[in-house]
Amino acid sequence: MASIGRTLLLLLSILCLCVATSFGACSQARQERKAAEVSDGPTASPSQTNGSCGCSSSPAPSPSTSEPNPNDFPNLKQYYAYLVIQQFKQTVTCDPDGVTATWVGYRPCTYRGFYCDTPPDSPGTPTIASVDFNGFRLCAPTVAGFVDQLPDLALFHANSNNFSGPIPDLTGLPYLYELDVSNNIHSGPFPVAVLPLSNLVFLDLRYNLFAGTVPASIFFLDLDVLFLNNNNFNQQLPANLGSSPVAYLTLANNGFTGPLPRSIFNASRTLVEVLFLNNKFSGCLPYEIGSLTTATVFDVGFNQFTGPIPWSFGCLLKVEQLNLAGNLLYGEVPDVVCRLAKDGNLANLSLSGNYFTSLGHSCWDLIKRKVLDVRQNCIPWFPEQRRPVECWRFLWHRKFCPFFHYIPCGLPKCAPKPAAPPPPGYTTYKALHQPPRN
Ligand SMILES: *[C@@H]1O[C@H](CO)[C@@H](O)[C@H](O)[C@H]1NC(C)=O
Ligand SMILES: *[C@@H]1O[C@H](CO)[C@@H](O)[C@H](O)[C@H]1NC(C)=O
Ligand SMILES: *[C@@H]1O[C@H](CO)[C@@H](O)[C@H](O)[C@H]1NC(C)=O
Ligand SMILES: *[C@@H]1O[C@H](CO)[C@@H](O)[C@H](O)[C@H]1NC(C)=O
Repeated sequence: MASIGRTLLLLLSILCLCVATSFGACSQARQERKAAEVSDGPTASPSQTNGSCGCSSSPAPSPSTSEPNPNDFPNLKQYYAYLVIQQFKQTVTCDPDGVTATWVGYRPCTYRGFYCDTPPDSPGTPTIASVDFNGFRLCAPTVAGFVDQLPDLALFHANSNNFSGPIPDLTGLPYLYELDVSNNIHSGPFPVAVLPLSNLVFLDLRYNLFAGTVPASIFFLDLDVLFLNNNNFNQQLPANLGSSPVAYLTLANNGFTGPLPRSIFNASRTLVEVLFLNNKFSGCLPYEIGSLTTATVFDVGFNQFTGPIPWSFGCLLKVEQLNLAGNLLYGEVPDVVCRLAKDGNLANLSLSGNYFTSLGHSCWDLIKRKVLDVRQNCIPWFPEQRRPVECWRFLWHRKFCPFFHYIPCGLPKCAPKPAAPPPPGYTTYKALHQPPRN
């Protein structure tokens, strides 16, 4: 999985004694950052270096009114970065926190939002390695001509700004591994400029106005995190969805249609949290979902999925949050699924707003314990169900989904499990919160 490039980055970042870990592809740092990145507010940024990362710590010469000279800067890379930043600054039309007022002088490493590090191919030449504008609420018509002109960038985080325009061609940025343009006003089709970025591990496009289809090749990138929620994507998912190695995937709150690709089976060893919530998906729930043995969150709530729950769901031994509410599911809630609360980690099973007519025998206890919600179904003699006429109207129609009663895993013995740990903050659910932008 780790490319040679990433391994190199890792080595170099260990060598670099500076506080800022912009180039650090260290997976631990990545994991920690992942959680921070989806928080509501500005993220925990790499600490401001104040030039401690090899940048000169002597006081910067005061900028004169005349054109700066390359000799005024710690190195040529910083001089070019300076020119790019100053040009971008001219295009910023709102800046409620006065961020751009700090973008003065010959030490761009000290500007707010910019962090320096030493690029792997130029030891001893610290330059802009990371741009973190999260929560700055800047307005600019485009980031083209800016982010694409900072060639040593490893991270670009611009959550919660008013940036629009296309995502520029970033193939000239060999170290880029995190791209977050979430909660801006980017529109148009899926930004194909990200598709050639083979070093990318984190891609966050949520809360924009992207529409249309998601190209199949995005699922061939070696990503850990892919957030596409809260856009206007409105077509079928490509059949190769399951070839993606992502751990955290959110497609929630779009207009995706059609079935879930059965290739999801191929993600069985990598997918940890997945949100398909609130789209227009349809078809039968694929039996292959039961192979997602590492998944802790599986949420397909509020779509138009139909059919019975395949018994393979009883193999989701790690799942904690299982949301199938607000669909067109019917039949019996399988006992083997309810048993996941005892034999697995299931803490919340939401089945409300479907057409289930009966419950497996282990399910009754879960209702009492408020783990299972079956309100607004068609379970006879049970409180808070649909009106009989509604149930009859639905159940009368011919059904096409197959019943899969095969359970493709050895079920655990009924040994009582230790109490589940308190629910953590789920990375994908946090991604559904939109921070203010003005
Ligand atoms: C960086 O410098 C500014 C101004 O000199 C100072 O207020 C700030 O505390 C410094 N930050 C760090 C991390 O040293
Ligand atoms: C930012 O964009 C939003 C959505 O288009 C808009 O409502 C808001 O007024 C903009 N903010 C500024 C300061 O221009
Ligand atoms: C999924 O895995 C199967 C078996 O390994 C393979 O034949 C198939 O091409 C894979 N599909 C995708 C979309 O990766
Ligand atoms: C269970 O999950 C549903 C659907 O995601 C959610 O609305 C509900 O708040 C959750 N319940 C608890 C107790 O976490």
